Amino acid sequence: MPAKPLSIWHPFTQDALDPQPLHIERGEGVYLYTRDGRKLLDAISSWWVNLHGHAHPLIVEAIAEQARKLEHVIFAGFTHDAAEELGWRLRRILPQPLEHIFFSDDGSTAVEVALKMALQFWRNLGKQRKNKFVALEHAYHGDTVGAMSVGANSDFVAAFQELRFAVWRVPSAHCFRCPVGKRRATCDIDCAGPLARLLEERHDDIAAVIVEPLLQGAGGMIVHPVEFLERIRKLCTQYDVLLIADEVLTGFGRCGRMFACDLAGIVPDVMCLSKGLTGGFLPLAATLCTTSVRETFCSRDRSRTFFHGHSYTASPLGCAAAIASLKIFDSEPVFERIAVIEKIHGQRGPVLARHPAVADVRTIGTVMALELKTDDPGYFSELRPALYDFYLDKGVLLRPLGNVVYILPPYVITAEQLHCVYDVIAESLDRVPWLAAQRAGH
Ligand SMILES: Cc1ncc(COP(=O)(O)O)c(C=O)c1O
Repeated sequence: MPAKPLSIWHPFTQDALDPQPLHIERGEGVYLYTRDGRKLLDAISSWWVNLHGHAHPLIVEAIAEQARKLEHVIFAGFTHDAAEELGWRLRRILPQPLEHIFFSDDGSTAVEVALKMALQFWRNLGKQRKNKFVALEHAYHGDTVGAMSVGANSDFVAAFQELRFAVWRVPSAHCFRCPVGKRRATCDIDCAGPLARLLEERHDDIAAVIVEPLLQGAGGMIVHPVEFLERIRKLCTQYDVLLIADEVLTGFGRCGRMFACDLAGIVPDVMCLSKGLTGGFLPLAATLCTTSVRETFCSRDRSRTFFHGHSYTASPLGCAAAIASLKIFDSEPVFERIAVIEKIHGQRGPVLARHPAVADVRTIGTVMALELKTDDPGYFSELRPALYDFYLDKGVLLRPLGNVVYILPPYVITAEQLHCVYDVIAESLDRVPWLAAQRAGH
């Protein structure tokens, strides 16, 4: 045996500053149990993936059963029961026009697939010139190169600037910092003006507009009015540009309906799903598209084939987990649980909004975010590690995005547990100046 195991390199972690990772031995329901005997309430669904609680027995059993039957098979030239059944089940919940599914592995690959699909769609139609993308400011779509390109310019991507392809960026409906200086009560979604002008002038060059519908997650939990998404849909249709909805975070009930697009009553041309797709158990992703997109790829001309795939495409284990997760939507009162979370956000969010440390409260569905006042905003805010440590000490996993604290719980969280999370946040607010000062003194 070697003297030491490999040193494990953790994501988004600065070893020179951050504490050692916490060792989790097991999870159950909303709780994670550490090796040193502590119990943490997971208030962020473990990177926004978990829906029905950790180690939900139905999903555990479905994965085990699938593993006994077929753990993997190449998906080019082959198919299997789990993928077929998942296709049926997703068909029941997705907007009707999204009739085709392409599997991949995670949120970033779902986005890569969507971008490549959009580009090749226009190429297949002989419109090679339509090869540019439009993305929103504050966007986050993942860490692979295409996904990083359509993501916002930020410290996250600065080191990789040379790899990123050029993208046109337009304002997002960040009402708290309205990009066009309006107020929501009296505006006419004027922030969509730059997109309208860009599409009018350059639609012949544009393949697609990509958005995180209604909720920009990693960019700071920015909630958009539904009218903004409706307007984008109308503009894309008017100017013959594809609309890609990245529902990697928002899908499967996070925003209160199965998909955020449902809240705005719109259907995108392409939709990306991952995270909650398997209930948070296994990496699996899907990129959905309409028949008008799909049919341009079907031809006796092999060069029109969609040349994209991954070794684990449509992993039978992932598909089995996803089927089990969707069955839980039928067998357990999932949307009633979601309604309880929404109700508590509705009660407690406005109370926190009155706290002098709070600049803005944003809520949608199961997600509640507080932007805190600080001289040091942004992802690298010194408040972040101080708050993170404070919450962990109190037994709650909350991972602020800079000065934005948010709750995004598994749906099985009880009212009592959610109130506890709010109490811990309220306590942290009273101690924010203290926390910041303490950190600065380190
Ligand atoms: C909206 C959105 N798209 C894509 C991704 C990337 O997903 P993954 O981390 O699974 O690659 C994320 C991750 O947070 C996301 O929030």
